[in-house]
Amino acid sequence: MKKKTHFELRFLHISLLIAFLFGASVSVSASGIGHGRLTEAETLYIKQRQLLYYRDEFGDRGENVTVDPSLVFENGRLKIAYIALQAWKQAILSDPRNLTRNWVGSNVCKYKGVFCAPALDNPKIRTVAGIDLNHGDIAGYLPEELGLLVDLALFHINSNRFCGTVPHKFKHLKLLFELDLSNNRFAGKFPAVVLKLPSLKFLDLRFNEFEGTVPRELFDKPLDAIFINHNRFVFDLPDNFGNSPVSVIVLANNKFHGCVPSSLGNMSNLNEIILMNNGFRSCLPPEIGSLKNLTVFDVSFNQLLGPIPDSFGGLVSLEQLNVAHNLLSGKIPASICSLPSLQNFTYSYNFFTGEPPACLALRSFDDRRNCIPARPLQRSAGQCKSFLSRRPVDCSSFRCKPFVPSLPAPPPPSPPIVPVPSSPPPPVVRPLTPPPPPPPSPSPPPPPVYSPPPPPPPNPPPSPSPPPPIVYESPPPPTPVYEGPLPPIYGVSYASPPPPPFY
Ligand SMILES: *[C@@H]1O[C@H](CO)[C@@H](O)[C@H](O)[C@H]1NC(C)=O
Ligand SMILES: *[C@@H]1O[C@H](CO)[C@@H](O)[C@H](O)[C@H]1NC(C)=O
Ligand SMILES: *[C@@H]1O[C@H](CO)[C@@H](O)[C@H](O)[C@H]1NC(C)=O
Ligand SMILES: *[C@@H]1O[C@H](CO)[C@@H](O)[C@H](O)[C@H]1NC(C)=O
Ligand SMILES: *[C@@H]1O[C@H](CO)[C@@H](O)[C@H](O)[C@H]1NC(C)=O
Repeated sequence: MKKKTHFELRFLHISLLIAFLFGASVSVSASGIGHGRLTEAETLYIKQRQLLYYRDEFGDRGENVTVDPSLVFENGRLKIAYIALQAWKQAILSDPRNLTRNWVGSNVCKYKGVFCAPALDNPKIRTVAGIDLNHGDIAGYLPEELGLLVDLALFHINSNRFCGTVPHKFKHLKLLFELDLSNNRFAGKFPAVVLKLPSLKFLDLRFNEFEGTVPRELFDKPLDAIFINHNRFVFDLPDNFGNSPVSVIVLANNKFHGCVPSSLGNMSNLNEIILMNNGFRSCLPPEIGSLKNLTVFDVSFNQLLGPIPDSFGGLVSLEQLNVAHNLLSGKIPASICSLPSLQNFTYSYNFFTGEPPACLALRSFDDRRNCIPARPLQRSAGQCKSFLSRRPVDCSSFRCKPFVPSLPAPPPPSPPIVPVPSSPPPPVVRPLTPPPPPPPSPSPPPPPVYSPPPPPPPNPPPSPSPPPPIVYESPPPPTPVYEGPLPPIYGVSYASPPPPPFY
């Protein structure tokens, strides 16, 4: 089994190598390295690039990298990497911490933030395996040439000011394992190119300006972590949501609406899910109760209705439960507050009418602004009366789709995608040959996510500052802007909140 995997990888690598050499030759001739006269095709290519310069949506701004013939490179791949990194340097408009100042000369492995490791397919040569410019405060964009870095396993640029779109040529990064673009200024549609990355396990797009829908194929990919919170996605979760094998998924602070899908109950790897501050409007599906490994469940600041299902008593690993700021009602099931690991249960700002004594014994709980008799800080009698006199909630009226397991989407037609073993170990971190450890540590490494963590880097990666601790609460990749508490209720940051129907 392993053998086969490895074989496939080698095969993949060889075909990629060919593709990359081909790609490189295009790039080289287009950059005027060949000193002869330009052919008509080359002129056209350059023209097109210059045209594209003004057409940002293609992500190709026409960098012009020439390689000084006097430069000597350790191997051909590092020369290609030089082209990619120099193109990137040209696309950097501001680098206040001078991180790219030493990006000169042929020794790209010495460039700050660039990490080399033995190539997977040829351990005798070094290639660029990781990039970590986290917390660089760099302004600029990502040039298409970055697609030349085909040996890249880690690409971490969180907390910078990169804008524009994600280059289409990222599709060549077949070994990319972790992609962290969080806390930048990327915009436009969901970067569909990530769907073409067969090795990707960790996808972090949070705190950007992506908008529109999220392709349903995302949930059929063998990802371990998805962070897309704090963008502008507007979307109903599709019925294949439950196919996702993620252990952590954070969708908070977008404009997802529709149902909390019952297929959640099939996400047996799930450890943490945060759906807070969207527009979900349905009941809580009882299937959720079967998630034995779930530790964090947060659906606060939505418009969920109905009771908390009794089945939630089956969430035996649950530590943090937040259902606050919804329209939930009924009595809190006693089994929930007796869950062995539950530390913090927040159910304020709903319309609950009863809570078992066990809840009051929890280490931390918040039952304010409900309709619970004899408890302090409840809603007014009038509010409770008007809400509770309405017709009882009919959960089937939301017409939430039942879970229909869907087959994974067929691979995109054009690029030769080699299927990747869906379970760990990811190719990058456990090759048969002496492991070339991917260099920088995962940037915001949610400790639970990486059960098989990438082996330690050869030299400790001098990450500019310690990665933000990520766990619960969609940890803002640190920007002062997001450090404050969430907006009090629907409204402030939530663009067009359907006004709460009551009071
Ligand atoms: C690229 O840059 C070189 C030198 O920096 C210049 O001679 C050449 O004309 C440029 N080519 C294009 C297409 O801009
Ligand atoms: C970066 O380089 C500029 C110019 O040499 C210098 O003025 C500035 O202080 C440097 N910034 C840092 C953070 O080192
Ligand atoms: C999803 O869960 C349902 C009910 O638990 C089960 O019948 C179904 O087979 C599951 N599907 C998958 C793909 O695991
Ligand atoms: C749940 O956690 C246990 C222990 O942590 C682990 O052995 C098991 O494989 C996990 N189950 C799933 C489906 O991830
Ligand atoms: C409990 O969870 C709520 C909501 O996430 C949070 O605001 C509060 O600080 C937590 N309390 C403790 C003691 O962790």
